Amino acid sequence: MSESNSKTFTMSNKAKFSERICKVEESPTFALEKKADELDRKLKKEGRYIIRFGIGQPDFNTPGNIKDAAKSALDENKTKYTASTGIRELKEAIVKKFKRDNSIEYEIENILVGNGAKQVLDDLMRIFINPGNRVIIPKPFWVSYSQQVILSEGIPEFVDFKADLKIDMEHLRKIAKKYGNSKDKAAAKLFILNSPNNPTGMVYSKNELEEIGKICLENGIYIISDEVYEKFLYGTAKRFSIASFSGELKSSTITINAVSKTYAMTGWRIGYCAADREIIKQMTKVQDQSTSNPCTIAQWAAVEALEGNQDSIEIMRKEYENRRDYIHKRISAIKGMECTLPDGAFYIFPRISNLFSTKIKNSFDFADNLLEKANVAVVPGGAFGDDSYIRISYATSIDKIEEGMDRVEKFCKEL
Ligand SMILES: Cc1ncc(COP(=O)(O)O)c(C=O)c1O
Repeated sequence: MSESNSKTFTMSNKAKFSERICKVEESPTFALEKKADELDRKLKKEGRYIIRFGIGQPDFNTPGNIKDAAKSALDENKTKYTASTGIRELKEAIVKKFKRDNSIEYEIENILVGNGAKQVLDDLMRIFINPGNRVIIPKPFWVSYSQQVILSEGIPEFVDFKADLKIDMEHLRKIAKKYGNSKDKAAAKLFILNSPNNPTGMVYSKNELEEIGKICLENGIYIISDEVYEKFLYGTAKRFSIASFSGELKSSTITINAVSKTYAMTGWRIGYCAADREIIKQMTKVQDQSTSNPCTIAQWAAVEALEGNQDSIEIMRKEYENRRDYIHKRISAIKGMECTLPDGAFYIFPRISNLFSTKIKNSFDFADNLLEKANVAVVPGGAFGDDSYIRISYATSIDKIEEGMDRVEKFCKEL
């Protein structure tokens, strides 16, 4: 090859890529999984392995009736494009689901199906945010919210939380007043609510939701209610859909859900939302032009998930509850760790800052050391907006949790 042919076209990343994408961070949970995978491969040669408390994904298999529906869809050649926002049968099942489970009445024009709750959220950021608009996000938050806002050139405005791991209402009031009802560039248009919550497992009461609803309505702010963990509630916990409280809240709320967590279908990529028709119309444009329909076979499987036998949910819920009780007891017994008992989802969010030292200065150091020395993967709280915590996912078998907690306990004792 001549010298001129071997030359490559180079440009710095900053010059090459959009300012928007350069501001976006890698997903810390996916990065952690990658790191854990690499270490796991090495450890395997020595007969050792990693206990994974990192990723938020059910360890259960997708129920058989749902897999059968997908097989039938394939056999019936349901393999073509569909409407970009989903098949009518799935939308009808979603309308019924919202009525049955959430006491909210919708028509199919109010429904959109996307590639997981994640895409539905991204559609929303794209249709609402102008550069510089604020999106109000309570801390600690699921990692993708803030990054999706940045990807749409918005600015995340974080709300503090209190010792009970729930939103500081006074702080929300202040921020909503500052940025809401505004026509200028910095206007806040959206507030993101997530109950049961990732990463804390906290569930908001009716009174708390009513207060949040009132603040958002008074300040002209739409609510995105991310309810993907709705079925995993423990003890006496009760949950409510904020859109069911009044007509006004229904029209100002976009309720998001997915089959991903409820039916152990994370890889099938089916999420959905219900909202005002105008909102759905705008979101449809995004999906028309960016992805077209979510996988047709997965859509038919989702119809079965929502309409078929629901027994698998209670089996999973009970098992998560056992694990929650066990892991909470174990963490509470570790000197230096403090944790609130979660009411839902499959995460626990212990405070670890009492264990910080000159060697371990923050949650990232803690997670790195825990992975390398004890071979346990957890996600640093810093990734969710608070460095004093770590997130432990208990979507893994009780045996693994037992072994993992033995390792965590030993690691903390030796710090
Ligand atoms: C709070 C929350 N919302 C949305 C999602 C994304 O769900 P999906 O897999 O349906 O895109 C997750 C996944 O971890 C989540 O924790």
